[in-house]
Amino acid sequence: MYLCKKIILFDKKFIPKKINTSNLKKGSITFKAPSNIALVKYWGKEAIQVPKNPSISFTLDACFTITTLTFELKSTKSDTFDFDVFFENKKEESFKPKITTFFNRIEQYLPFLKEYKFVIKTRNSFPHSSGIASSASGMAALSLCLMQMEKELSTNLSQVYFNKKASFLARLGSGSACRSINGKVVVWGKHVVIDSSSNYMGIEFPYPIHKNFKNYHDTILLVDKGQKQVSSTVGHNLMNNHPFAESRFKQANENLDKMSVILQNGNLKQFIELVESEALTLHAMMMTSTPYFILMKSNTLKIIEKIWAFRKQTNATICFTLDAGANVHVLYPENEKEQINNFIVNELIEHCQNNQYICDRIGSGAKLIATQK
Ligand code: DP6
Repeated sequence: MYLCKKIILFDKKFIPKKINTSNLKKGSITFKAPSNIALVKYWGKEAIQVPKNPSISFTLDACFTITTLTFELKSTKSDTFDFDVFFENKKEESFKPKITTFFNRIEQYLPFLKEYKFVIKTRNSFPHSSGIASSASGMAALSLCLMQMEKELSTNLSQVYFNKKASFLARLGSGSACRSINGKVVVWGKHVVIDSSSNYMGIEFPYPIHKNFKNYHDTILLVDKGQKQVSSTVGHNLMNNHPFAESRFKQANENLDKMSVILQNGNLKQFIELVESEALTLHAMMMTSTPYFILMKSNTLKIIEKIWAFRKQTNATICFTLDAGANVHVLYPENEKEQINNFIVNELIEHCQNNQYICDRIGSGAKLIATQK
């Protein structure tokens, strides 16, 4: 009862009081939003888009989506969302249902949506079907464009409110998207040790981060570029009635607590252990659900084995993490980049599809690229 009341009150904060669209007839807005890689994973959610456990991620830099939202006030009001979507300059009908669901979820917070006709043009910096999820960066970029519209329609909207609401909206498009708005390290989900953490939006990690994590690298090895075997919504639902669900959610809370300490004290040995354990636990959850899935490929395992052998041999600060797929994210600090890059190029990329990989690192969040009226 108390919780219900709290959610309703919280939501109200993001319902604008009065919006007059007559001063904004047409225009366009372009935002660039990054992808992110979770260190403590979000896996399992409740309706609507509330995580079963808190998660924390590094914001990426080289993997991003750029979205241009063009809008025009309709001459006659209608009760439908009117929009076209273009992906890499080609009309993409298959993107429409997800965006319609998103618009339905956010309409009460952006009550002007049905008053405009939109054209959404989007592209990713990473190759299409690289196995890298574009929903985080894509939904973040679209939410930011819509928030910019709200900003242009309002008289005084602070940057803090802008970022909070953009993250709140992005979450309703795709959970992990709420971690792709602002900050280098982002926490999503209520946790006692993280001040102001929330189930409804991502917040920048609120404590000083140790210099060991400055410019931290993430080289993404594209092991399997095919279609996702399990959609994220199906995957999250596998955690309902999962035999290990409760222990997993408890463990994720404990791991976030530990990660918070590690990020502040710079203990890279503990960082490696925690990050790899989280990745393997995510996959273990999938392997032990009903139905069960193995999302790693033999090349994923070969890479992991080589990383472990190399680490043992050289003491290098290298570790891996995984998304819900076969690709491997190789994480390492700036001061070891030469040695580890050589190892990746000489030993690991032979296990990638067409030898493809992406050199990425910690980035700082989304950027407004252009607005036009
Ligand atoms: C394995 O954010 O893609 O990448 O909320 O259904 O859109 P939806 O799920 P999504 O799930 C991402 C899960 C993950 C772990 C993580 O990023 O925390």
